[in-house]
Amino acid sequence: MTASDLTLLLDRLARDDGWRLPDAFLERADLADRLDLLLPGDTASAEVARAAPFLAAMEASDARLFQRLREAIRAGRGALAMAPWLRSGASEGQHYDALDTLLAGVLAIDEPMADDPVPPPGMVFYQPTPARHILDCVRRAGIGRDDVVLDLGSGLGHVPMLVNILTGARTRGVEREPAYVESAARAADALGLRGVSFLCADARDASLDDVDVVYLFTPFVGGVLADVLVSLERAARARPLRIATLGPCSATFARQAWLRADAATSPDRVAVFRSVSGGPD
Ligand SMILES: C[S@@+](CC[C@H](N)C(=O)[O-])C[C@H]1O[C@@H](n2cnc3c(N)ncnc32)[C@H](O)[C@@H]1O
Repeated sequence: MTASDLTLLLDRLARDDGWRLPDAFLERADLADRLDLLLPGDTASAEVARAAPFLAAMEASDARLFQRLREAIRAGRGALAMAPWLRSGASEGQHYDALDTLLAGVLAIDEPMADDPVPPPGMVFYQPTPARHILDCVRRAGIGRDDVVLDLGSGLGHVPMLVNILTGARTRGVEREPAYVESAARAADALGLRGVSFLCADARDASLDDVDVVYLFTPFVGGVLADVLVSLERAARARPLRIATLGPCSATFARQAWLRADAATSPDRVAVFRSVSGGPD
């Protein structure tokens, strides 16, 4: 990477300004990444000064797109409005990409400090599911508008909100951190998502009575996970359950005799399980 690569990129931004169109979000995200890699650390440099208005214009174009998508969601047209940006390709890996930037801009969740920054033993700290995995989950678990979806350990609520926007399913998040629940509920309310709710509770106490799909991005391990597995198995005897998992907990779910996976499980991709048990105890 040399200064001339940067000059060429800045010349191109000045010459071809299609990236300014709000809809050119992916092109802009790619250009912003490249600028980020090429710009020198010296903030007083001439290149940084030349790049600054381009970066500000990119941010303004993004803001216009996010605002338009938020209005569409409030009008009940979110799935259609977001469709052009949801053609994700590979769905593996734990990294974040441009789709996560889009989702952050659209959901506009304010990020509070956790009241309890060190989780109790067995409970995992907050990390959002990369957006492409949420799309993969919606597709492979066959989530539709008649489903009730529960995210156990819902953090700031990306999964319940995006699933509701895309499918119309009623979605719930259960999260032990009160500050996360408040932020998630505020964001859902600002988007008019009436089918989304958040409850501050321990996942072990969550009601599973009306639930069709449970999602877990490894929110807990050990004894807490064992207790939740017992509740899930009991619920699956009364009502077929689909369970989608991400991360290390997928291996534990894969060992349950009462579940069948739709494919070989990997910690880097959502695993989808369907309950096979039925009938009373
Ligand atoms: C890895 S994050 C996943 C967040 C969210 N599900 C997502 O995928 O974007 C795990 C979350 O589970 C929460 N958590 C951990 N143990 C919990 C418990 N026993 N009951 C409820 N929430 C819990 C944590 O506070 C954290 O926000």
